[in-house]
Amino acid sequence: MFELNLEKSWYDAMYKRSSVRKYTGAPDKAQLDRLGVLCRKLSWQGITVRMFKGPGLKNMVKGTDVYAVIVARKGTPMELEGFMGEALVLEATDMGLGTCWLGAGFYPEIIRRNVNLQSDEEVHCVISIGKCTLPPFAPKRKDVVKLCGQTEEALGALGAWQKEAVLAARLAPSALNQQPWKIVAEKNGVSILETSVLYKKYAPLDRGIAMLHAAVGAHHAGRQAVWKKVDGGYQMRA
Ligand SMILES: Cc1cc2nc3c(=O)[nH]c(=O)nc-3n(C[C@H](O)[C@H](O)[C@H](O)COP(=O)(O)O)c2cc1C
Repeated sequence: MFELNLEKSWYDAMYKRSSVRKYTGAPDKAQLDRLGVLCRKLSWQGITVRMFKGPGLKNMVKGTDVYAVIVARKGTPMELEGFMGEALVLEATDMGLGTCWLGAGFYPEIIRRNVNLQSDEEVHCVISIGKCTLPPFAPKRKDVVKLCGQTEEALGALGAWQKEAVLAARLAPSALNQQPWKIVAEKNGVSILETSVLYKKYAPLDRGIAMLHAAVGAHHAGRQAVWKKVDGGYQMRA
């Protein structure tokens, strides 16, 4: 599980992206085609990612009517929804498009109808996608030491892949920017674990987003992530 061919360009995309809610238009046909190809690659292990154009988004999102729906077979770890969805976000960012994860910003009935949702499937989030001028990169995130109890220098002493993984996970978007994770970096692994937050509904999905970022960070340092379920989350070895 959590196996995916990572693109090199997703590393730079992590250091560029932020949520966009006001767009200047929908992606064009060539962009939709490229995203469609990736959606097919992301659709496995119990997840299906599908693109739609038309009604479905609430009007907090302006200027685009294109969105991706992450459909999960019931029983699939919610982390996988975040993992696959964020891959689409980073690819779209690399294409110069804006995105926003939406847990509340869509009409569930319309989405259910569009995807012809079956009784053994569920949708927790959609992702709006559109043309925009990407805002300057200025993520509001927890300090590295607060996040993992170690300085960047100490992380670097553990190894390049551990440092890249933690710094990348730190940038992951999360519902209400709660960053509901604790990161433990060690010589032989980086774990992304739950931590108590007020609003828990999307915490596992948020964790999956952070896991994709960590994997892309480790990949940038020349390592391939392998994930193992541990108490309270997942551990990556690379
Ligand atoms: C699972 C999830 C659900 C989200 N739901 C919403 C939403 O319903 N409406 C919204 O405006 N933003 C939503 N967001 C976007 C977050 O508010 C945003 O990612 C976070 O504040 C960090 O900001 P950034 O993405 O610009 O770095 C969601 C993000 C995630 C990961």
